[in-house]
Amino acid sequence: MSVHPRKPAPATPGAGKLPLPEVAELKRRGDRITMVTAYDAPSALLADRAGVELILVGDTAAMVMLGHESTVPVTLDELIFLTRAVTRSARRPLVVGDLPFGSYEISDEQAVGSAIRFVKEGGADVVKLEGAGRMLSRVRAIAESNIGVMGHIGLTPQSATRLGGFRAQGRTADAALALYDEALALQRAGAFAIVLEAVPAPVAARITEALDVPTIGIGAGAGCDGQVLVWHDLLGLYDGATPRFVKRYAELAGEIEDALGRYVADVRSGAFPQEQHTYSIPDAELERFELALSDRH
Ligand code: KIV
Repeated sequence: MSVHPRKPAPATPGAGKLPLPEVAELKRRGDRITMVTAYDAPSALLADRAGVELILVGDTAAMVMLGHESTVPVTLDELIFLTRAVTRSARRPLVVGDLPFGSYEISDEQAVGSAIRFVKEGGADVVKLEGAGRMLSRVRAIAESNIGVMGHIGLTPQSATRLGGFRAQGRTADAALALYDEALALQRAGAFAIVLEAVPAPVAARITEALDVPTIGIGAGAGCDGQVLVWHDLLGLYDGATPRFVKRYAELAGEIEDALGRYVADVRSGAFPQEQHTYSIPDAELERFELALSDRH
């Protein structure tokens, strides 16, 4: 018997990588797009099997994986490391590498260099970055380098301090209009899709109608072309406060805590391991072993 029989489980049978132009096609056909974050190989495999179109290796890894209090501290190297694990098992979904704070703000060259690293070293299919304004030229530069780039406006957590905290955006007519213009400008700059985070649903719906490229909403209502949730929020794996737009589809933290508690109790009581968890040795070999040991004394 093999000691380590674990093999990577097969991904979605026969499924090739989703072609990037298919994402816009989904919008044209009125089919909703699904995106979820993932930060490791087993999660990416499960997301692939569930049929999501897009897996985001988000900078939320800073908070839900690495224990930071915001998304700001995570580095490009750290996200590339996680992306490599995700791309090892995600077959069908497009894997989106999330450019972290500090990896694209300085210049277009820096942004293109970071995007290339995500693709070459992490195996990401496309990248995402936050903001419009000065970031439009970063989007243009990345798109012109033949790397698909996703925009992200509304609540952009990397600039939460400037925005006055984690709060909804576009809640006045002027602010809503500014978001609308930013979305159109991102599309013109070459973004293939745009995340709208914490934006009032009617505003997100009007933006979605105005764009040819899809919108992916998080806290932006059902009028978006697709939805994204953070893995740990969706599965109830994260103990911290979650925003109001999160729907938890499971409470896995409780289940895991319970399982670990039972494991600890079993080890302490001797209830684990049992015979079926161990390996046998032929009686004759065991006898020879014992004899050899007794000869030593
Ligand atoms: O990093 C992330 O997980 C994100 C999503 C919240 C869209 O940017």
